[in-house]
Amino acid sequence: MQRLPPLTAIVALPFLFLFLSSTTHAFNITRILAQHPDFSTFNHYLTATHLASEINRRRTITVLALDNASMSSLLSKHLTLSTLKNVLSLHVLVDYFGAKKLHQLTGGTTLTASMFQSTGAAVGTSGYVNITNLKGGKVGFGSEDNDGTLNAFYVKSVAEESYNISILQISQALSSAEAEAPTPGPSQLNLTALITKQGCKAFADLLRASKAGSIFQESIDGGLTVFCPTDKVINGFLPKYKNLTEAQKVSLLLYHGIPVYQSLQTLKSSNGVVNTLATDGSNKYDFNIQDEGKDVTLETKVNTATITSTLLDQEPLIVFTIDKVLLPRELFKGVVETPAESPKPANKKKKKAADAPLSDDSEADAPSDSDDQKAADDSGVSGLDGGRLVTVVISLLVGILVLC
Ligand SMILES: *[C@@H]1O[C@H](CO)[C@@H](O)[C@H](O)[C@H]1NC(C)=O
Ligand SMILES: *[C@@H]1O[C@H](CO)[C@@H](O)[C@H](O)[C@H]1NC(C)=O
Ligand SMILES: *[C@@H]1O[C@H](CO)[C@@H](O)[C@H](O)[C@H]1NC(C)=O
Ligand SMILES: *[C@@H]1O[C@H](CO)[C@@H](O)[C@H](O)[C@H]1NC(C)=O
Ligand SMILES: *[C@@H]1O[C@H](CO)[C@@H](O)[C@H](O)[C@H]1NC(C)=O
Ligand SMILES: *[C@@H]1O[C@H](CO)[C@@H](O)[C@H](O)[C@H]1NC(C)=O
Repeated sequence: MQRLPPLTAIVALPFLFLFLSSTTHAFNITRILAQHPDFSTFNHYLTATHLASEINRRRTITVLALDNASMSSLLSKHLTLSTLKNVLSLHVLVDYFGAKKLHQLTGGTTLTASMFQSTGAAVGTSGYVNITNLKGGKVGFGSEDNDGTLNAFYVKSVAEESYNISILQISQALSSAEAEAPTPGPSQLNLTALITKQGCKAFADLLRASKAGSIFQESIDGGLTVFCPTDKVINGFLPKYKNLTEAQKVSLLLYHGIPVYQSLQTLKSSNGVVNTLATDGSNKYDFNIQDEGKDVTLETKVNTATITSTLLDQEPLIVFTIDKVLLPRELFKGVVETPAESPKPANKKKKKAADAPLSDDSEADAPSDSDDQKAADDSGVSGLDGGRLVTVVISLLVGILVLC
């Protein structure tokens, strides 16, 4: 058995390589702009409005960047953050315009959709940007709802990665009454009403009946990711749920939210321990997010759930469905249905400790709901393509045993 760890490592290496290369991002707008201090205010607001992550998710995109001076005149309008988001999203074109293409438009003019248009926030033709080649090699930009006035001009190319992302500086912010119109704040999103409509009624009912509901609701403005167990799962869990005290029910529900907006893509790339709405000082109430290739799983110390779908995505709120109720060890250590039968192999503990350095090792032994998942955990490589690796490792072990 002493041969196991190196063997596992050798088998895992090519998989690890595949895994890393398949999740590498094409680009990161924040990082690119960080190299250009003139655009630091613009860069800051791309992050603050969560536009940066939406930009990074795209493949073919042009960002019309505003330098510090243009940003200060835009900011002097004192728009709310959600309105500013609309204005900035008008500056993100969902097509690729390198400096060359920009100066050689077919017919000398084009209308192109911006992210403001493509996210459905805009009405009618607003959200389209008119780009026109002008005399003397100038290029003018104007919002389609600006009465034909091209109020901004091309200054220079800041960065280009052919057909992935182009960042072009323009002379000032595009004026658009539509984009600058006051927007309903995100707090007007009604979480329980929205998820009830989308088919997550059982979880919404629990939220409504508990103090946790208003805490979720109040967290939306700052960014909120919710993991909603499907109705069937909640209904099967109700007997156990009813057994909890009121305070425990609140903690259990809060355990299903993390106080930051995380798209599936960011979840996939943020492998590791996350705090939840239930986290409070020494009550960690955290869990581990794992990219399992095709799937993203949430591992508590007690069980492992898999994300099954994106129920709704209206930044700053995103809701995923999951296939199990997340059981925090703070509530379910020793309360789980099947008692721990036998001690786990040592390598599982090592792996758990490495993944979650905050955790108390002795508590890593609670039984898992799924035997497949347990097998993957035991192999010590569940962060990779668990199932396939387990098969490979087991067949190699069998081979070695046969040879001995
Ligand atoms: C992009 O880069 C910034 C700054 O380097 C970093 O904080 C952020 O986590 C990166 N985002 C992704 C999705 O890699
Ligand atoms: C742009 O503004 C930011 C924040 O106000 C500042 O930190 C940065 O140094 C400015 N950049 C330049 C080139 O002035
Ligand atoms: C863009 O605006 C200019 C100036 O108002 C106008 O002449 C041109 O027809 C517009 N282009 C498109 C494609 O609508
Ligand atoms: C564009 O992104 C792809 C991956 O999505 C990458 O292979 C390619 O090298 C990128 N192009 C440039 C010019 O960086
Ligand atoms: C959400 O909508 C429900 C009705 O569907 C209503 O009872 C509740 O008060 C609303 N919550 C908020 C915070 O507006
Ligand atoms: C409820 O709690 C009691 C006492 O802790 C326990 O014996 C019982 O099995 C629990 N019922 C369920 C359904 O978990």
